[in-house]
Amino acid sequence: MNGPKLFEPIMVGGLELANRIVIAPMCQYSAVDGCMNDWHVIHLGHLALSGAALLTIEATAVVPGGRISHGDVGLYDDATEAAMAGVIASVRRHSDMPIAIQLGHAGRKASTDLPWLGGAQIAPEAAHGWQTVAPSPLGFAATDHAPHALNDDDLVGLRDAFAAAARRAARLGIDAVQIHGAHGYLLHQFLSPISNGREDEYGGSLENRMRFPLEVFDAVRAAFPPERPVTMRVSGTDWVDGGWDVEQTIAFAQALERRGCAAIHVSSGGLDPRQNIPVGPNYQVPLARAVKQATTMPVVAVGLITEPEQAEAIIATGDADLVALARTMLYDPRWPWHAAAALGAQVTAPNQYLRSQPRRFRDLLRGR
Ligand SMILES: Cc1cc2nc3c(=O)[nH]c(=O)nc-3n(C[C@H](O)[C@H](O)[C@H](O)COP(=O)(O)O)c2cc1C
Repeated sequence: MNGPKLFEPIMVGGLELANRIVIAPMCQYSAVDGCMNDWHVIHLGHLALSGAALLTIEATAVVPGGRISHGDVGLYDDATEAAMAGVIASVRRHSDMPIAIQLGHAGRKASTDLPWLGGAQIAPEAAHGWQTVAPSPLGFAATDHAPHALNDDDLVGLRDAFAAAARRAARLGIDAVQIHGAHGYLLHQFLSPISNGREDEYGGSLENRMRFPLEVFDAVRAAFPPERPVTMRVSGTDWVDGGWDVEQTIAFAQALERRGCAAIHVSSGGLDPRQNIPVGPNYQVPLARAVKQATTMPVVAVGLITEPEQAEAIIATGDADLVALARTMLYDPRWPWHAAAALGAQVTAPNQYLRSQPRRFRDLLRGR
């Protein structure tokens, strides 16, 4: 094909994606008791009309204590499942875009206030606060209330909770699961030597630190229909000396691939406030490239990818197989239409909007 690589289809496991543009998961902090509501219909609904290849539902907690804030979405009981079912049904009625869900647990970064109220940690005894848990009793910020270290029974319970959430996601018809192993949340807290000081088989060596995240992967993979992909999001580095880094990320990615992981999404940071991130366009692409060179599953790059030509170059040079966009999709929800226009490709659009196509583009929009 001679057209733009950004608009070539790709298989992720058994799921065919129409192009290489993925909508990254974005917490909305707008749920009530873990339940989605009409905000999520509006938010996910408008993104589902964007012409991207995959819509990823925000970080969704597998137990109530795994929510970052009391406004986080959950998928841990019948009420949260029913609320999500309603939102998904609305979105599906008007869009064919495949839907993935990011399942996670915030660990020591749970129990925080909403970002627009400052985002500080809320103490366990205060309203909307609870006791956090983590691999070790080490807080994220010096002022944080120390998390409780998880014991063996807790780990079994959490693994089961991830699997139970995956079963609920399967019942909801969700097309793919992305496990949240990034941004300093619970699974990343196990991976990084900075946050994991355990002396049992879940801490110490790289093999031991990877053990719980890999057990969670296996449990989710076993709980989700085999023909639907399970993927992982990772931080490729902590950006702190002595922390998680790209070599360990590659080892983790290879272990995931051996277990049937369908794709890996390479972000970075979030584990330690001392992080020194060289933020700029493509700042995380070298991490994705390093993982891509060491694995064969599709790799997703993310982070300040804002221009069509920039996204096209990432795919065309083989640095990554897909690009994920977060803030750009909020700012410009029709970004995939504009990218298709700039690169000479075609996207699916609602029939109701077909008349919006500027006259100079003859075949930009394909109706559904
Ligand atoms: C409003 C908002 C919410 C986010 N929520 C999540 C989330 O739920 N899970 C996650 O892994 N990353 C989350 N992120 C990070 C994004 O997915 C993405 O990795 C990051 O914003 C960098 O990509 P960008 O430069 O395209 O925004 C969030 C980012 C934003 C702006």
